[in-house]
Amino acid sequence: MKDLLRTSDLSRDDVELLLTTAADFATDPLRASTALSNRTVAIYMTKPSTRTRLSSETAIAHLGGTPIFLRGDDLQLGRGESISDTARIISGYCSALIVRTFAQADVEELGAAASIPVINALTDDDHPTQLLADWITIREKFGKDIAGRKFVYFGDGNNMSHAWLTMGAIMGAHVVAATPEGKWAPSSAVVAQAKEIAKTTGAIIEISHDAQSAAKDASVLYTDVWMSMGDPESERADKIKTLSPFAVNSNLMNLATKDAIFMHCLPAHRGEEVSADVIDGPRSVVWREALHRRTTIQSVIYHLVRGDIKGR
Ligand code: CP
Ligand code: NVA
Repeated sequence: MKDLLRTSDLSRDDVELLLTTAADFATDPLRASTALSNRTVAIYMTKPSTRTRLSSETAIAHLGGTPIFLRGDDLQLGRGESISDTARIISGYCSALIVRTFAQADVEELGAAASIPVINALTDDDHPTQLLADWITIREKFGKDIAGRKFVYFGDGNNMSHAWLTMGAIMGAHVVAATPEGKWAPSSAVVAQAKEIAKTTGAIIEISHDAQSAAKDASVLYTDVWMSMGDPESERADKIKTLSPFAVNSNLMNLATKDAIFMHCLPAHRGEEVSADVIDGPRSVVWREALHRRTTIQSVIYHLVRGDIKGR
């Protein structure tokens, strides 16, 4: 597999390899410090980023390479140069391309036209690199034996909910998306694909519209912002009202297992999708999870450039 374009591209074996290497990079970030010596990796983003940009640039430095950060209209893409011409040019200079943008189709077009690995660093539909950080964090807490455990995502049926359901399916987990019905539910195509993957991995994929019953006996309570990058401001009031029953607060945490953890991809809005006492409380693992953005993106770049990822 050349690129990481969608969470569903990954097989269970790929994820295991990526998490094992990420754990090694957590112990020693410089253990492959010449892998990208004298080479560059382009990072192109048309949306803001704190964690993904900083962790990617740092990971590339730890691999001995140099990141080249390109924002929005820095490229001639903004003046009408085609995606495929751009991909071809970047392939002539750089060892990989990390992209954050709106349309999933644009990332896929870049992947198809580039001869170097293209990595999806978030689109409106998916966020595969985040899920690797999430899963290594879950592993550190619960180990490999997750039978009988339930991992629940609360809130907007957005890119994060899609990636959550898909990675859970790949990993054979019992995953739930607790979201409103209708407009802010996860895409039915993504849910169908997760259920299809689950047939081969033993995962349980559940959609719930009731936050309380979803939280009952859950081991992970996960949430994400209610207004994603690019969401229309005109929908804010309606969206926040519709999502408010899915806010993660101490009432929901108290329904979970005794050893349950709180996770969030960040950025967080305290008082909206999560209460301050939960995200800043003893069950929150969000800082460790954020740290693992660095270890896992380093692993993704390292293995994709080497051609080690086989795909599903
Ligand atoms: N979680 C995440 O992707 O954070 P950034 O938007 O800050 O990169
Ligand atoms: N759903 C959020 C995730 C941010 C990491 C967004 O797309 O803005």
